[in-house]
Amino acid sequence: MRSRVIALANQKGGVGKTTTAVNLAACLAGLSSRTLLIDIDPQANATSGLGFKKEHGRSVYGALLGTTSLPDLIQPTSIDGLDLIPSEIDLAGAEVDIARTENYLHRFQHALKPVLDEGRYEFIFVDCPPSLGMLTMNGLAAAHSMLVPLQCEYYALEGLSVINRLIAQLSDANANVDLELEGVVITMYDSRTNLAQQVVAEVRQHFGEKVYDTMIPRNIRLSEAPSHGQPIVMYDSGSTGAHAYRELASEFILRRGTADSTDAAEQRPADARTPVETASPQQPSPSGAA
Ligand SMILES: Nc1ncnc2c1ncn2[C@@H]1O[C@H](COP(=O)(O)OP(=O)(O)OP(=O)(O)O)[C@@H](O)[C@H]1O
Ligand SMILES: [Mg+2]
Repeated sequence: MRSRVIALANQKGGVGKTTTAVNLAACLAGLSSRTLLIDIDPQANATSGLGFKKEHGRSVYGALLGTTSLPDLIQPTSIDGLDLIPSEIDLAGAEVDIARTENYLHRFQHALKPVLDEGRYEFIFVDCPPSLGMLTMNGLAAAHSMLVPLQCEYYALEGLSVINRLIAQLSDANANVDLELEGVVITMYDSRTNLAQQVVAEVRQHFGEKVYDTMIPRNIRLSEAPSHGQPIVMYDSGSTGAHAYRELASEFILRRGTADSTDAAEQRPADARTPVETASPQQPSPSGAA
């Protein structure tokens, strides 16, 4: 199977990157999509959020420097179908070490190759730190797409143009000319405030269909779950947070299905298409997703 590598990135801290990485990954595994989560943030929040200790030598550090093989770092989690490569505080040192190596933007991509070749996973999520340093750049250089969690507040809007600029920069630096915007997830949504509604309206205007219909509400259970080392679907399966992430996972699968069939059609030479396919207008997807 062809794995899709999706980096969770937003240079703003605390917007829900890790919460989305852990819970979307867990919910996709629950929908029978084999998923690998790679924590490349030295804060190691995804690691502890899945109940793992930060252990020296277990992170991608060695793989980035070419001393360890990345597949050897994969560990099964307590969620069926979800595996993890944990992080550790020492990974912060990789920022400096990678910068001294050759092909410093593509160390992670290179390390990830055997996992892609093996094709065991449908989705590989990469939880990036909240900076645009070497680790995030490596994460984005290795990814097919970038998934951007956006917290519903005034300052979120300032980050919008930064995201598009970032994709352009990666392309200009020849780090990743094919990087796509997978989608924008609105997090910590509070429907009671006018501000939240305004922000959502502006985000949708700016990013159009790239914004998921599913919005993640502010939910205290979501913030409690990591200290128990559990994704929300294990910690409190009936909470609004669990419900939202399950819905996001379903929407994600639905949109990917539509995107994959479009990709496949585009990759086939025109004369290999049947007359019916070439003649028929594009079917609108049920959610209006592209
Ligand atoms: N929907 C939500 N409702 C309530 N709390 C949330 C929600 N999403 C995230 N949080 C909490 O907000 C904080 C920041 O979330 P998270 O760690 O996912 O953000 P992040 O973007 O990964 O942060 P960083 O940039 O530091 O890596 C955490 O304490 C998390 O538990
Ligand atoms: Mg995080």
